[in-house]
Amino acid sequence: MQIQVGIVTVSDRASTGAYEDLGGPALKKVVQDAGWNVLGEAVIPDDAVRIQQTVRSFSQQGCGLILTTGGTGIAERDVTPEAIRAIMRVELPGFGEVMRAESTKITPNAILSRSLAAIVDQALVIALPGKPSGAVECLGFVAGAIPHAVALAQRLPTSC
Ligand code: MTE
Repeated sequence: MQIQVGIVTVSDRASTGAYEDLGGPALKKVVQDAGWNVLGEAVIPDDAVRIQQTVRSFSQQGCGLILTTGGTGIAERDVTPEAIRAIMRVELPGFGEVMRAESTKITPNAILSRSLAAIVDQALVIALPGKPSGAVECLGFVAGAIPHAVALAQRLPTSC
């Protein structure tokens, strides 16, 4: 199954061009190395409505997997988890649990991330931390479950 992927960088500063988006391109490389297809990319501010519109738009364009990077921490503008939870059908707590548990072996600060996964429409949405290396690490920790989760989200035939 070819997984169609949307990548969303959530960052006030990257969206204004104040600094270069490094997280989106880093995730794009991981996605392409996995043999999946990047259908869309976006760089948007830390704004709940924009996050929801972008996730929904990528879902409607046919993305089975939508990766966000940024806004999972505790800064005032960090609203990615709340934005996704407001439009999800179900959350998949295991993704957040594994991402935090594995990441704290790398840095104690990973406990500050409210990273999560959820089903929105027919897409698996994974909210990753904003630091590019952290986003790539977290995606790696859960990658093994992604094909099956996407197939279930898209109601495709699966082996179990
Ligand atoms: N997870 C991993 N694997 N590696 C990291 O370096 N950085 C953490 C954390 N998760 C990190 C990580 C830090 S420093 C923060 S503040 C939180 O993610 C939240 O980041 P965000 O607000 O940019 O999403």
